[in-house]
Amino acid sequence: MRVAVVGTGHVGLVTAATLSMLDHEVVGIDEDEEKIRLLQQGKSPFFEPGLQELIEKGASSGRLRFASDAPDAITSAHVIFICVGTPARSTGEANLAAIERAARRLAPHLSGPTVVVEKSTVPAGTADRLWQVLRLERPELDDDIQVVSNPEFLREGQAVEDSLRPERILVGGRSTKAFEAMRQLYEPLIRDGAQFIETDIQTAELAKHACNAFLAMKISYTNALARLCERAGADVTAIAEVMGTDPRIGRAFLDAGLGWGGYCFPKDLQAFERLSARLGYDFGLLREVQRINDEAIAATLEKVKDALWNLEDKRVALLGLSFKPRTDDVRLSPALVLAGRLLDEDAHVVGYDPEAGANAKSEMPELEVASDVYDALDGAHCMVVCTEWDEFRSLDLDRARGVLAHPIVVDGRNVFDPAEMRSKGFIYYGTGRASNFEMS
Ligand code: UGA
Repeated sequence: MRVAVVGTGHVGLVTAATLSMLDHEVVGIDEDEEKIRLLQQGKSPFFEPGLQELIEKGASSGRLRFASDAPDAITSAHVIFICVGTPARSTGEANLAAIERAARRLAPHLSGPTVVVEKSTVPAGTADRLWQVLRLERPELDDDIQVVSNPEFLREGQAVEDSLRPERILVGGRSTKAFEAMRQLYEPLIRDGAQFIETDIQTAELAKHACNAFLAMKISYTNALARLCERAGADVTAIAEVMGTDPRIGRAFLDAGLGWGGYCFPKDLQAFERLSARLGYDFGLLREVQRINDEAIAATLEKVKDALWNLEDKRVALLGLSFKPRTDDVRLSPALVLAGRLLDEDAHVVGYDPEAGANAKSEMPELEVASDVYDALDGAHCMVVCTEWDEFRSLDLDRARGVLAHPIVVDGRNVFDPAEMRSKGFIYYGTGRASNFEMS
């Protein structure tokens, strides 16, 4: 099939590259000419494991190309994906202006039969608005143009794997014709075991927010439990294992730490709560989920202060700056929020990240960024693990202890074994673990 993908951010680019692997002819379109230039040279504009290879394969097969404007590709496309950003407004609501703009730009070039796919995460009701915009621009458009919702569930850092081997493909639509086109598009993935779920449009839109908010709730639940464990002398990691053995609960997303961040959970949770309020339902649980997430960073800061007393003239090394491992994305990264709080209290903060150093530096120029983990630790009074990169799990602890000014470790992601840390002479603060505050 011929496919156009509007927006080449994380979702759009991975979608475009994946669909080209399924033998579709794909054009990725983006207003950002610099990004398009990079992509035309076969380079991914951001780090995502496996994506660079897919882009190269797509380009050499001739099935994946990029353009800043491609009216012909829109006209001839069987399926057009809208993957533009939906950032949060200051009110917390999703800003859908980019979706409207994309629809206006598409409208003059549409020629059916075409399925216009809303792939970006949006509040329920957006697809109807999208259709309205298309019809206002082109009143003659008829059933040959179908709008469907097909939310993505890919995770940064695992996006290629998630796209090539999804558990489910959710499509919200109104006509058999549209469902059939989407089945045809994803046929190789369905054959490989992906569950194809058909719903009405509002249900598909709401389901995406429901999934992200539920996952955020699981994490916040565990972080609240961590606060309790620290007071009760229990170990939240062991409780997570116990809970995880119950298939009704599941082990995933029960890791306590600095909390959730990134481009999706923070904005989606807020947008979901705002949508709910607009529809007349007070979904207060979502606000509590957010509050507990903020508390997770505050609790980590308290441990640093407990260990160092005054932060002035203290050097604090943050290990991991991305919002989670295997990505260079620092948007709403808990590590940077913590860095900001430490800087506000006049600590000297140095960060290290295997991939996200440059992004962190441009997001927060006042942060010193080291290019090697031991350089970051050199002379630091405290080491704080903010993101659980594998590199930190295999840290040479003796070397680390040797270069640190004080052997203090605040483990914001529970990557180390408390007993081992104590035996190596560290003053170790875990997250929600009984060993907190015990000195060696
Ligand atoms: C999330 C969802 O997992 C995807 O299904 C969804 O498609 C995506 O948002 C989206 O809406 O685009 P992502 O933001 O890439 O994916 O990251 P996650 O792997 O879900 O992690 C989110 C945050 O939760 C990270 O900051 C991570 O460190 C944190 N987390 C995760 C925990 O603190 N504890 C856990 O147990 C799990």
